[in-house]
Amino acid sequence: MAEQRREMIVVTGASRGIGRATCQLAAEAGKHTILVGRESSKMRDVLQTCREASTADFVPCDLSDTEQVGRAGAHILELGTPQALVNCAGIVERQSATALTLESYERQMNTNLLAPMLLCRALLPAMLDARRGRIINVGSISATLGTANQSIYNASKWALVGYTKCLAEELTDTGLMTVVIHPGSVDTDMLVGSGFDPRMSANDVAHTLLHYAFDAPLAHNGAVIEMFGA
Ligand SMILES: NC(=O)c1ccc[n+]([C@@H]2O[C@H](COP(=O)([O-])OP(=O)(O)OC[C@H]3O[C@@H](n4cnc5c(N)ncnc54)[C@H](OP(=O)(O)O)[C@@H]3O)[C@@H](O)[C@H]2O)c1
Repeated sequence: MAEQRREMIVVTGASRGIGRATCQLAAEAGKHTILVGRESSKMRDVLQTCREASTADFVPCDLSDTEQVGRAGAHILELGTPQALVNCAGIVERQSATALTLESYERQMNTNLLAPMLLCRALLPAMLDARRGRIINVGSISATLGTANQSIYNASKWALVGYTKCLAEELTDTGLMTVVIHPGSVDTDMLVGSGFDPRMSANDVAHTLLHYAFDAPLAHNGAVIEMFGA
């Protein structure tokens, strides 16, 4: 019974970088952590680490595949009703807007934008019934500017802000909230090849995500939180 009372947090992109740090901190805080992503040895390592601290489950999903995202949503609900969904997984494929293939357009938009929206669609009815919960979307400072050779990535993150703002309006007075967190340059695999030096750690971002997932007042609903780095 005690295990069932743990607050449940769902984190996509759990295998590496910010998602991994978020899962580990959540588990250390005693949360029931649901790791969503592709099967890999890295994912297995995170699952094991989380289980050493708390309860944790793995939900396999290639987030670029909308059918798999739908199945993952159903799988998550079998495990319980989340207190928090952290949409963290993301990819960037750097090439000019004309050189990028259609497959790359679809892969980036599906992973960075459609998957978060479809997971919200799947999980929100149960969270609304519970009258509590937080949707934390991981955007990027790239959603505040234009960057050469990042058109689809930036477009997906700008759109994620629009989606979060609209959702926030729908969540008014429901006991739920949603925010989008915009990290700057984070010391993870994604930064490699960007030309930028790291200005913060994955842990810095993870602490921020967990603050909004569990502690921040609901009055933050619809907020865009920018992290420029120290
Ligand atoms: N790093 C930065 O400087 C920075 C700055 C601003 C915003 N962000 C955002 O922060 C978030 C996390 O990025 P990060 O820096 O932690 O990147 P990362 O270290 O490259 O990790 C990306 C994560 O996303 C997962 N992922 C990618 N495509 C997937 C797919 N199709 N299905 C399932 N999982 C998939 C990866 O899983 P696999 O291990 O299976 O590939 C991995 O767990 C992203 O949304 C990113 O846009 C990062």
